[in-house]
Amino acid sequence: SVYGTADEASAAVANEIAALIRQKQQEGKPAVLGLATGSSPKKVYAELIRLHRKEGLSFQNVITFNLDEYYPMQPDALQSYVRFMKEFLFDHVDIPVQNYHIPDGTLSMEKIREYCMDYEKQMELHGGLDFQLLGIGRNGHIGFNEPGSHENSRTRLMTLDQTTRVDAAMDFGGLSKVPRRAITMGVLPILQAKRVVLIAWGEHKAGIIKQAVEGPVVESVPASYLQGHHNVSVVLDESAASEL
Ligand code: GLP
Repeated sequence: SVYGTADEASAAVANEIAALIRQKQQEGKPAVLGLATGSSPKKVYAELIRLHRKEGLSFQNVITFNLDEYYPMQPDALQSYVRFMKEFLFDHVDIPVQNYHIPDGTLSMEKIREYCMDYEKQMELHGGLDFQLLGIGRNGHIGFNEPGSHENSRTRLMTLDQTTRVDAAMDFGGLSKVPRRAITMGVLPILQAKRVVLIAWGEHKAGIIKQAVEGPVVESVPASYLQGHHNVSVVLDESAASEL
């Protein structure tokens, strides 16, 4: 779907998430959400906070799994995704702390493999993701599944692309300060979500959106794997859709 502005598009995505949360509440079940960071989802989260305040949307039954975290990364560091999620969503809604999961950037190397397997196991224990929100990197990454990631890739430690690190350099105050790796949910668990919504705003995303949506399904554009998902929407503003 294409909306005139990112604001309208974000509101539509937030409304879908809110409807899912309410439906699950009525069924007495948790809503299991896969969440993303980056600038794109900020307005979606802002709208969810507004719905919480103005319409009493409750997050008591919401369980979340974030896509990724830099490695290494301390949770209280300025650039951590733990901090991001607290600042832009969790601190402003009634989600219980034990309900949200964000990959741990503080683990020692030897522990990461097992930790990643457990991260996926936790998702499965909750019945899998009902909804996965995704942004897209300029190189076509989803989460931090960089080009070359296999369709069946699992949650793992990933070496970041140069493009990704350059795009993050501003946040870190210089390229050399950007971590070289990240822990990311794999492509496989992302594709196993019952519903996937990828969002992108702005002209700088138009080229990669065209490749992801209209191009062949290729490892060099991990977002193109979404073409094979049975319940996916790509939600864009007019600029991001300008090359379609
Ligand atoms: C980071 C995140 C991705 C996100 C991407 C795009 O690399 N790990 O999940 O999709 O940035 O960021 P933005 O939304 O700021 O363009």
